[in-house]
Amino acid sequence: MSEHAEIILEGKSYKFPVVTGTENEKAIDIAALRSESGYITLDSGYKNTGATKSAITFLDGEQGILHYRGYPIEQLAEKSNFVEVAYLLIYGALPTAQELEDFSGKIKMHTLVNEDMRKILDGFPSTAHPMGILSAMISSLTAFYPESLNPNQSKEEVDLSIIRLMAKISTIAAWSYKNSVGHPVNYPKNKLDYCSNFLHMMFAFPTEDYEINPVVVDAINKLLILHADHEQNCSTSTVRLVGSANASLYSSVSAGISALWGPLHGGANQAVIEMLEQIKADGGDSKKFIAKAKDKDDPFRLMGFGHRVYKNFDPRARIIKKAADEVLTALGINDPILTIAMELEEAALNDPYFVERKLYPNVDFYSGIIYRALGIPTDMFTVMFALGRLPGWIAQWKEMREQKEPIGRPRQIYTGETERNYVDIEKR
Ligand code: SDX
Repeated sequence: MSEHAEIILEGKSYKFPVVTGTENEKAIDIAALRSESGYITLDSGYKNTGATKSAITFLDGEQGILHYRGYPIEQLAEKSNFVEVAYLLIYGALPTAQELEDFSGKIKMHTLVNEDMRKILDGFPSTAHPMGILSAMISSLTAFYPESLNPNQSKEEVDLSIIRLMAKISTIAAWSYKNSVGHPVNYPKNKLDYCSNFLHMMFAFPTEDYEINPVVVDAINKLLILHADHEQNCSTSTVRLVGSANASLYSSVSAGISALWGPLHGGANQAVIEMLEQIKADGGDSKKFIAKAKDKDDPFRLMGFGHRVYKNFDPRARIIKKAADEVLTALGINDPILTIAMELEEAALNDPYFVERKLYPNVDFYSGIIYRALGIPTDMFTVMFALGRLPGWIAQWKEMREQKEPIGRPRQIYTGETERNYVDIEKR
């Protein structure tokens, strides 16, 4: 007998099918709930609501499991590279050597952006936050590639839009940094691999040779892999919702960038460093800030702690913490805020407030320490998150379109005024 859920409303019984995923996750399919009962469900923040069926990423918050297309994140971080993981997420399988060479080669051939985009970039003040620039510039790709606006693009046209986006985001990201420091931009060098090319565009300087450090390239590869997808998080849900209206890939990703910018989401990596710097400037007393984080009257939160899904540990945080130690040692950097971060983690993990609420370090807690060690400025940290998350956004947008999902349009429960008549202004 197929499983079902029964709801009794006003004495009447309603039965709804149970959906079971390949990892044995269970859901109640309530598609017929409103038409049969007139009721809807209410779930602020969608904490218990599944928006879709997806074959891209599986995560188990209790077990601290994260798989991309079935492959454990630990293995991919150790053995793969970012372009290969991007192919895996977008096309569903690890590429053959030829497929990877073709994919990587196509990306290299599209790293240049139209020179008119430099005019858009030049219009931003040097104080502009790079995330604002990134979102605007990605959306402006629709102006240079208007064919991308066609919701009925062929597979080949969609693949070209994907290649262009993967290629140009790293150029745009690096150029947004150069804009913020008033330096001339660097053009991509196609003989370099993806991460080396990004570092070249970020840090090469006309007056001296820039030597690419393999330790840094390896760290960037690992960080981008660890950020590449995370099922239906806030920014990915934004990309899917915008895309469900037949908005283009570029418009949908531009919206996702804006969602990621929020300090409760991807903006947390910048907020973590700012918090650690604040603690250091205040004398380094972790316990004082733990107390602030617990005080309901204090808006201070321990940034980089807690997660909607992970309730034991964020597997990415474990890998990044280990990488942070290795990178700082390899680069001979002794960053006092790494010590503060470890003290903060130790204090929080032994404090009942955090233990009871299952608040553990998340992906953002240690990533900023590595980015800082690699010379990446703080307000570029969330741009690095976006660079990593792009293949996930692309894969999710592509899956949503291939699954022919309807336009997303949640319901509500109205709590405002009931009907009343207009009152002329002289009588108010
Ligand atoms: C990312 O969804 C994803 O997958 C996201 C992400 C991805 O890869 O896409 O993993 C990336 O966004 C990681 C999260 C980065 N954000 C931060 O580090 C910001 C700090 N953390 C939070 O604000 C919070 O933990 C969230 C936003 C991450 C999760 O929020 P929830 O699930 O809505 O939990 P909540 O706010 O309801 O908190 C539950 C309780 C509350 O206390 P009580 O009302 O029960 O007394 O825990 C408390 C909260 O006040 N709490 C914290 C806290 N996080 C939660 N208290 C102090 N410090 C914190 N960081």
